[in-house]
Amino acid sequence: MKSLIICKSIHVGNTEKIAKRMAKVLDADVIEPKETEINSLKEFDLIGFGSGIYSYKHHGSLLNLADKLPDLHGKKVFVFSTSGVIMNKFHDDLKQKLERKNAVIVDEFFCKGFNKNSFLKYIGGMNKGRPNEKDFKSAEAFVMKIKEEVEKDIKSGMQS
Ligand SMILES: Cc1cc2nc3c(=O)[nH]c(=O)nc-3n(C[C@H](O)[C@H](O)[C@H](O)COP(=O)(O)O)c2cc1C
Repeated sequence: MKSLIICKSIHVGNTEKIAKRMAKVLDADVIEPKETEINSLKEFDLIGFGSGIYSYKHHGSLLNLADKLPDLHGKKVFVFSTSGVIMNKFHDDLKQKLERKNAVIVDEFFCKGFNKNSFLKYIGGMNKGRPNEKDFKSAEAFVMKIKEEVEKDIKSGMQS
């Protein structure tokens, strides 16, 4: 199966670390939204979209990319993020945009990330050391489960 991870990580590289661990399991490349050739996405069986959370949302470049995507015809995708606190609604914008392109969101992954934004830098930041090894293991298990499901679908001819 062919997978791709599209990731934007601008603060301290938290989300990139998670993306790279996921990519190892999936044998996938990690690319930035600006490097994404939207017309070549059809060759992938699974695509992950992730970034840090900035003002309650994924990064603008990832949201803009989702707006520009062609119809994804039931393509399996997953959404992930790292953030200071975990709130389900942080994923809403990106999920809605992907659903509008007829992607199937198979699952989503949230993870705490070190945050030294704004005043937090004066107090040593929050979530020091996150993502940590336990987070990486959770990220790996998350994609492993999806990988097994997609491979099963491909075998049974359900994947287009
Ligand atoms: C400009 C900015 C805005 C942020 N806004 C939020 C936010 O709204 N909610 C939150 O939980 N964390 C917020 N954070 C914390 C980041 O989501 C967190 O540190 C994340 O792990 C950063 O990922 P990155 O290193 O991949 O960019 C913000 C960080 C920055 C720099």
